[in-house]
Order: sequence, then structure tokens, then C-alpha cells
Amino acid sequence: MKKVGVTGGAGFIGSNLTQRLISEGHEVVVYDDLSTGLISNIDQSKCVFHNSSITDPKALHMALKDCQTIFHLAARGSVPRSIKNPVATHSVNATGTLNVLEVARSTGAHVIFSSSSSVYGRNIQLPKDESMWLGPMTPYAASKLAAEGYVQAYAVAYDVPTTLLRFFNVFGPRQRPDHEYAAVLPKWIWLAMQGKPINVYGDGTASRDFTYVDTVLDIAMTAMNEKVLTEGAMNLAYGNRIFLSDTIELLRKHFPDMQVNYVAERLGDVKESQNAPELLKQLFPKVKPKNFETTLTETIDWLKEFGQSVANGPATSD
Ligand SMILES: NC(=O)c1ccc[n+]([C@@H]2O[C@H](COP(=O)([O-])OP(=O)(O)OC[C@H]3O[C@@H](n4cnc5c(N)ncnc54)[C@H](O)[C@@H]3O)[C@@H](O)[C@H]2O)c1
Repeated sequence: MKKVGVTGGAGFIGSNLTQRLISEGHEVVVYDDLSTGLISNIDQSKCVFHNSSITDPKALHMALKDCQTIFHLAARGSVPRSIKNPVATHSVNATGTLNVLEVARSTGAHVIFSSSSSVYGRNIQLPKDESMWLGPMTPYAASKLAAEGYVQAYAVAYDVPTTLLRFFNVFGPRQRPDHEYAAVLPKWIWLAMQGKPINVYGDGTASRDFTYVDTVLDIAMTAMNEKVLTEGAMNLAYGNRIFLSDTIELLRKHFPDMQVNYVAERLGDVKESQNAPELLKQLFPKVKPKNFETTLTETIDWLKEFGQSVANGPATSD
């Protein structure tokens, strides 16, 4: 059993991870300011919860100082939100990550960091592998790249054990469907459930390399248990090129009357996204991804049954 810190543990991926860690017998410290996460995602009878920001280095140190592993998931997500407020995005995503690394520098904790495929930005070559040049197009992507730089620098300069994972598009239970910047899958499912039209930015030919949240947890848990460290970054997605138009057809099986509006593309949206998963398969050979259509159905079923529990969370309009 380990003592494990999860920043962003009240959010989508963090709360799923916390549940997995608890079920496998670990002692978990959740650190989250509830800016987009939900208190209802945390079972406070089974973990310790600190309601604070990663921009507060003292509070962060006090909360995480005894943790052997820190999953650093707290972030100001969303590309459009970062375009609206780049300084706030930098403060949380870049400086906040530096604060987490400072804790690890003094304690020796293993830091498992969640970056984003958005760092590739202007590089339109497909599929993406870790050797390719990076070209952030938005403050969100730039903040993640800055954080990646610090993670790598702390590994070299201070021997902090680090695992740097670049998530592509993660989906599954507990992802918030309701707010202005909600991710595409839960947002569309939620609208379709209510008989409302969905908006497609562009003509539907955009693609995404979707990964089910359980697969991300399998990787994260393996990274902790087997102390899998990355030299640079590792892309976390299995090389699917799922077109939004195909996703709409899959959703129609569940919502035959779904209405679709095609609207202008959004600033900063990456058109195509697909990983070359060689490094992922080399470092995590035992993890097998789950099928997209099956897990999409599981997500729809979850939202139908429990969606209200993650809808109407805190606003993200700042
Ligand atoms: N979901 C995806 O598809 C995806 C893709 C790429 C990268 N990521 C990264 O994975 C991580 C988790 O993403 P998610 O989808 O679970 O997002 P989420 O918004 O559901 O979770 C983030 C959590 O961080 C918390 N948080 C935000 N600012 C904070 C601060 N200053 N101090 C403490 N807590 C703070 C929020 O309250 C929330 O609970 C993030 O770092 C995100 O950038 C996610």
C-alpha cells in the first residue's frame, strides 16, 4: 500500500483514478480547488480531501509531503477558456506544475503528469509520434508545454522520478457534459438525451483519437506500480482516427432523431488527431485498450443513469 496524492482528484479523470486507487488499497490524498471538479465526486470517508489551489505552494506541500506518488491532474482545462484568460491558464497549468515538482524535489515523490496532445498544435503531420516538432496554437497548449519542460528539467536536474503522459481525447463516466467548454462526446450525448440539436464545428471531417478513461487508469496505475518513467514525453492514445461524422452515426444508433447543426470551426481547434502508439505499447505492453463503440455505449448508459450527478457543476465562464 502507498500513500498517493491526486491533484485534480475531484475532476473527471482524477476522481475515477482516486476510486481505483482506493479500491486497490492505497491511502489517497485528493487536492483540488473545486473550480471545475465536484465535491460529490469525492468519498471523504475513504480519502483525505484538501480544498486548495496548486497555486498555493505551502498548502500543496503540507498536503502532499508524505506521498510517495503524486498524480498531477489539476489544470485549467479547455482551449477556448485559455484564449479568454491566458494568464490564469499559465498560473495554474505551468506555475502550478512547478509547485508540484517543488514538493517532489523535497520529498522524492514520483510525479505522474498529464499533458496534452494539443502541444503538437500547428504540426499537422499524422500520426503523431514523440519525436515530432511541437507548435502550440493556444495558451492552454503553451502552458502544458511549459509544464512538460519543467517536468523534464526536474527529472534531469534533481533526479525527480517522472512519467510524462500526453493525453489525447479521454472520455467516459464522470466527464461533465453540461458546461460551456464541455468535451465533445459528453456534450453531444447530453444534448441528444434531451432531444436538443448538437453543433458540429466544421463539416464533420475532423478526427479524434479517443481513449476510454479506464484505459488511462490502467496506464496510470502501471506507471505507479512498476515505476515506469519516461525519458521525454509519451503520447497516450492507441492510434484510432475516429471521424466526428462516424461518431455521429454511432450516436444515431442510440438517438435516431438526433439533430445536427454544422457551424464554423473554432479558433484553436486541432482538425485531425491521431497517435502513433509505438512508445506507449513498448512501455506499457500489458495494457490493452477497450473498443470505442462498446465504451461509447457504456458512457451513454452511465450518463442516462447518473448524468445529473455531474451536470450543473461550477460555471467555467471566467
Ligand atoms: N480529458 C481529456 O480529454 C484530457 C486531454 C488532455 C489532457 N488532459 C489533462 O488531464 C487532466 C485531467 O483532466 P480532466 O478531463 O479530468 O479535467 P477536469 O477539469 O475534470 O479535472 C481537473 C480538476 O482540476 C481541478 N483544478 C483546476 N484548477 C485547480 C487548481 N488551481 N488547484 C487545484 N485543483 C484545480 C478542477 O477543480 C478539476 O477537479 C488535466 O491536466 C487535463 O489538462 C485531459
